[in-house]
Amino acid sequence: MVMTKEREVRSLMLPKNRARRLRRTAFMRDLIRETHLCVDDLVLPLFIRHGQEVKSAITSMPGHYQLSLDQLETEIKTIMALGIKSVLLFGIPSHKDEQGSDSFAETGIIQQAIRYIKQLAPELLVMADTCFCEYTDHGHCGVLVNSAGSFEVDNDKTLTLLAKQAVAQAKAGADIIAPSGMIDGMVLVIRQALDEAGFSHIPILSYAVKYASALYGPFREAAEGAPSGGDRKNHQMDPANAAEALKEACTDIEEGADMLMVKPAANYLDIIYRIKHAYPDIPLGAYHVSGEYAMIKAAAAKGWLDEKTAALEVLISIKRAGADFIINYFAKDMALWLQERH
Ligand code: PBG
Ligand code: ZN
Repeated sequence: MVMTKEREVRSLMLPKNRARRLRRTAFMRDLIRETHLCVDDLVLPLFIRHGQEVKSAITSMPGHYQLSLDQLETEIKTIMALGIKSVLLFGIPSHKDEQGSDSFAETGIIQQAIRYIKQLAPELLVMADTCFCEYTDHGHCGVLVNSAGSFEVDNDKTLTLLAKQAVAQAKAGADIIAPSGMIDGMVLVIRQALDEAGFSHIPILSYAVKYASALYGPFREAAEGAPSGGDRKNHQMDPANAAEALKEACTDIEEGADMLMVKPAANYLDIIYRIKHAYPDIPLGAYHVSGEYAMIKAAAAKGWLDEKTAALEVLISIKRAGADFIINYFAKDMALWLQERH
């Protein structure tokens, strides 16, 4: 009698569900994996600068360079060989002025880069970042209001110039226009201008939900677009806000955005999740930004974490949260790491 009782107690204590059964081997884990990352999901940012034979290392973003046009042939060949299908372009012009006029000139650095890349690899998707901070002498994302010492962007004057910039990029051959300045009405005016100029077939990827983040620091070195005074808090979002992100997304969809973006990515997984759930039919990108990249690189260089595993973990997490594609600086290494896994 005593024996039976003991056995009963013991069998009660044994778990019926053992999650470990499905984690035993790599193939078993592959079988039940819910989220997949593949090379199609990756968008690689490129920084293109004026000058000749320039390949200038960006110190805060190891592995990334400002490239002059003549360096692009090798770079684009490498990108294509890795299977990467899209790039996002940022330009660093020789001449900056208060309007950022290089950004909408036919001979502007980014227009030249787009034409050349489309010639080198016609099928590669070229996304153009549409903003002014790399092109203005004051480093802000648009023209400033006319009061001395003010660093406030004049929203509506900037809209007119944004439309010009988008059309210049489309004329050069950009496949996707990506306005990043968080200027109210930017999607609306760009859509109208593109349609009127004969580019109704060119989609808009709106940086709809872009937070005023400390994580853009290394990018500002890379693109030479740091504001000379003031900050961007009066047009980029407050990191404390989530409901407002849904409003931003809704506005941009109404204005005609074909795709949306959340930026930065890893600190804002809740935002990615909410937006994907609110608008499941709108393709959603996430930008794993320069500072997010730099943090992993710096820790890995010190031997404090493993770069490859950390990068794979963060990118898969961004997809799991709901992103359909990820703009990120690991793209080239990631393309190789993803091949190793299969
Ligand atoms: C410009 C722009 C920025 C980034 C993309 N486009 C910087 C900013 O808003 O200050 C940041 C990208 C990165 O950090 O990788 N509007
Ligand atoms: Zn900007």
